[in-house]
Formats: sequence, C-alpha cells, structure tokens
Amino acid sequence: MLSSVTVHAPAKINMALRVGGARPDGYHPLTTVFCALDLADEIVVAPAEGLSLTITGNDLAVDDNNLALRAARALQDRTGMDYGATITIDKKIPVAGGMGGGSADAAGTLVALNELWELGLSHADLHGLAAGLGSDVPFGLVGGLALGTSRGENLLPISPRAFQSWVLVTDSDGLSTPDVFRHYDLLHPEPHEPADVDDLVEALGSDSVAEVAGLLVNDLAEPAFTIRPDLRELFERLEGAGIATVLSGSGPTIGILCESDTAADALAGALRQEGLSTLRTDGPAAGAHVVRSS
Ligand code: C5P
Repeated sequence: MLSSVTVHAPAKINMALRVGGARPDGYHPLTTVFCALDLADEIVVAPAEGLSLTITGNDLAVDDNNLALRAARALQDRTGMDYGATITIDKKIPVAGGMGGGSADAAGTLVALNELWELGLSHADLHGLAAGLGSDVPFGLVGGLALGTSRGENLLPISPRAFQSWVLVTDSDGLSTPDVFRHYDLLHPEPHEPADVDDLVEALGSDSVAEVAGLLVNDLAEPAFTIRPDLRELFERLEGAGIATVLSGSGPTIGILCESDTAADALAGALRQEGLSTLRTDGPAAGAHVVRSS
C-alpha cells in the first residue's frame, strides 16, 4: 500500500446561480454555472488504524459530521473495506464563505482514499458517492466550468475558452447556507422554476472574458444581503471595480472578475490597501486531483 497521497481540491465560484421554489424534500432546484478556481485545499492521507482528521490553516473545530470524514466512511460502506487513514487538510478556501470549501474537502478525500486504499472506483462511482454527500461535492470532483442543474449535482461540462482572473473579497464572518435559502423562501414564497443561464453559457463559449460582463447573477444575493446589510453596502461599493461582481454561492465571499491578470493583481493590492481581505485566484481549474503519492 502507498504511504501517503496528496490531493488538491479546488474552491468554486458560482458565476450564475438561479434558484427555484423549494421542492418537497426541502432542496431548491437550481440552474448554476460553476467555475473551479486555483485556490485549493491540500489534503494528505496516510494509512492508519481507524479514521482521524486534522485541520491546519484554520481553527475550524473538527467533529464526526465533518464532510471529509463522511466521505471516508461512505467509501468504507460502499466497498466493505475497513482500512483506516489519517486525513490532514490544510485549509486555504475560506470556511462558510460560499466557495464550496467543505464540498471540495469531501471530493478531495474521495479521490485521495480511492488512491491510497487502491479501491479502483470509477469516476461514475465516485460521482454517485459525492452526490450523496452534498449538492456541490460532484462539482468538486469534476472541476473546470460546468452547468449545474437539479440540486447542483447534475453537471454538464462547458468548454473553457477564456482564462479568468478573479479577485475574491472574503469575510471571516461566514453565512449559513440553509439560513440564506430560508430567507430566499421568505422573499419568494410562490412556486417557481429557476431562470435559465443560457446567455452566460453562450458567452462563455467566446474567447473574450469581457463577453460575460453583465451576465453574472446570483438569486441568493438578496437574501444574503437581507441577513447582512453591511454586505450589500460592500457589494455596491465593489460593483464596477472589474468586469463583473458577483456574490459566490450563499456568500459572504464576493468575486470580482477582471479583464486581465495584471488588472486583477492591481485591484487586489488596491483593495488590500483599503483594509479589505482579498485573495487572487484564476479559473477555470482542475477538479480534485492527486498531486503526489509515495
Ligand atoms: O447539499 P448540501 O448538504 O450541501 O446543502 C446544504 C443545505 O443548503 C441544504 O440542507 C439546504 O438547506 C440548502 N440547499 C438547498 N437547495 C440546494 C442546495 C442546498 O436548499 N439545491
């Protein structure tokens, strides 16, 4: 057996997120365009007795419900294997930031343990397990650029044409996804289908990133701003700073798409000078993948 496997698991930003009325199971039908970013958590797994998880880079408390541990147990249940492992996650993706950090860790753990334990599960097998773990976990496996429907777990790849340079404005005060969806329901109590994102998908087929200006949209922005009025003020201040500004997922991270690498570097520096917490990242990036094994 291998002695360790290292995986990079990317963050995502929703370039468009359209939401429908809640289904009987409580989930909301979505049409969304996911973009994986080169901002990634690093996951290292090694053989051990039993399962354990250590998180570095963030003082996030670890409990048994952690998605990475649930991913490991899902693999054990699926294969009937009871191998153990230590799982160490170096967090780079903001926690509760609307960037799919927990989902990335679950996807990365599936990939890492499939390799370490030599389970030989196919991509389709992993996708099935991923969908059972959370709506965004399948995209964490696939990465790139994709149209997501249903809960977000049905994915159709979009061929990336233009390189994307992003500045992320992060906020250490995270938002709860179920809470933001609950506020969405209060604002939109009538049954409805999510709007389509066809214009954005078409624009992404062009070679110029500027084509997507004006097409980034997030139906969860209004409910997130209802919970956090200060976030609305910040968002309005940042509009116009790049090509387009969008709240990612259920927030509070705000993504600013820029026309070039250099424009993004300059903007990130300027916003940092103003005292904002920023990250520079590019997309689209690969889904969870092995970077080292020994
Ligand atoms: O699927 P996941 O466990 O990541 O979803 C977390 C929560 O987000 C769900 O419990 C639900 O409240 C909300 N959600 C939703 N509709 C979706 C995805 C998530 O209502 N399509």
